[in-house]
Amino acid sequence: MSTAATPPTPCHLVLFGITGDLSRRKLLPALYQLERANLLHTDTRILGLGRSPMSADDFRNLVLTALEQFGGVTLEHQALLRLQRRMHYQHLNFDEAEHYGSLQESFGNCTLRRIFYFATPSALYADICSGLQQAGLIAGDSQVVMEKPIGDSLASSRVVNDAVAAHFNEAQIYRIDHYLGKETVLNLLVLRFANALFTSNWDNSCIDHVQITVAESVGLEDRWGFYDKAGQMRDMVQNHLLQILCLLAMEPPADLDADSIRNEKLKVLKALRPITRDNIHRNVVRGQYALGHINGKPVPGYNEEAGADGHSRTETFVAIKVDIDNWRWAGVPFYLRSGKRLAQKQSEINIHFRPQPHNIFRGSYAELPPNKLTIRLQPDEGIELQMLNKVPGITEISRIAKNPLDLSFSESFGNQRVVDAYERLLLEVMQQNQSWFVRRDEVEAAWRWVDAITELWEQSGDLPAPYQAGSWGPSSSITLIARDDRLWDD
Ligand code: BG6
Repeated sequence: MSTAATPPTPCHLVLFGITGDLSRRKLLPALYQLERANLLHTDTRILGLGRSPMSADDFRNLVLTALEQFGGVTLEHQALLRLQRRMHYQHLNFDEAEHYGSLQESFGNCTLRRIFYFATPSALYADICSGLQQAGLIAGDSQVVMEKPIGDSLASSRVVNDAVAAHFNEAQIYRIDHYLGKETVLNLLVLRFANALFTSNWDNSCIDHVQITVAESVGLEDRWGFYDKAGQMRDMVQNHLLQILCLLAMEPPADLDADSIRNEKLKVLKALRPITRDNIHRNVVRGQYALGHINGKPVPGYNEEAGADGHSRTETFVAIKVDIDNWRWAGVPFYLRSGKRLAQKQSEINIHFRPQPHNIFRGSYAELPPNKLTIRLQPDEGIELQMLNKVPGITEISRIAKNPLDLSFSESFGNQRVVDAYERLLLEVMQQNQSWFVRRDEVEAAWRWVDAITELWEQSGDLPAPYQAGSWGPSSSITLIARDDRLWDD
């Protein structure tokens, strides 16, 4: 389904926050992979911007160390040299407009299309935009890439989006949700719209309910300060989980054009039944991890982590029963669950189909187990369909058993490396394709729905339910789904 059909034209990638965590962990390794695969135009230039002065040698070392630490591959000398040759570093005070003149000097007469990548907190986007504007660095073909979270509520996201919109139009803006660059998330479209078997069974007449789990075993990895202001709802649910939900629930878009896809996703976001004071206790659970064990090793509770203030109420786990009020999904709950310090890293979608209306195999099953489609997003990417089959044997006329039809991506597609989401998304930006980026109205619709929940939490003053690190979340999360006579697929 690659929309990356045309090789990228040359550009000048200007990366704000090159020394930050995101750049070192994700962006530099992604650029290295694009370089290695010859997907960067020979003339493309990369300018890394950071807030501290750094010599060319120190910058080369920073790049090398990041690639060694986070690249996950043995570095190829030639590719590394090519990448380092096209990269430069400049020190810039992002919030001082007068400093941007120096940026203009380093561009000189270069007429390459500029891509401004904001790998900084969104509170800085307004200053960066006005600095660029005042220095006359924004042209009609410039692009801007924005990292999430964009604000922490509908109101604050509007402030950020307005500030950027004062200098760039929507067609120039690429809002990243890196889940939209993941192989298995993109495959949802192929699975649904290229396979007639699923296209025709994908609604409330055939599907009983859907579960989406994005579980992480990691904690905060020195990000307590950032995370504590966000929590799992704003960090993961508002963006990644709702985007997955949209791809699962949306109507077929007319084509893969950016607006065709984004229009359909927006309709889903607008159809989410609001969480209110009356239904929040039945439909939403928030938790916070306490002391426990991960992989047999003791780990501290959230409030005992390095940098913690000891009495935070921020949630590290959320489970929500989501209803989508439209014709296709009326009566089909989507159960969403996401948390830190859970039993294991495991992101998967489980589609539970409806049971057969009549059972003629009572000898094997008093109640026939319904089909279940599992889409493993990560790790061990793949798809598994639970089916019922006759047990082989001459006397086994009507004995049946449940078996999985299992498609493991690593087995089916050989040992092909799983492309990292950032590689794909950077390439898509260079090719000026917005299909896998989030439009402003989507961000706002997602915030509107999430705000209702976070505001109710703030008003209630309730504490998040504690759960042991290394478990699957608080027991109230089990109750949430058990109330509907269902169980989480762990
Ligand atoms: C980020 C969140 O957007 O996604 C992190 O800020 C989270 O808290 C990360 O750990 C998870 O991404 P992935 O690709 O490892 O599932």
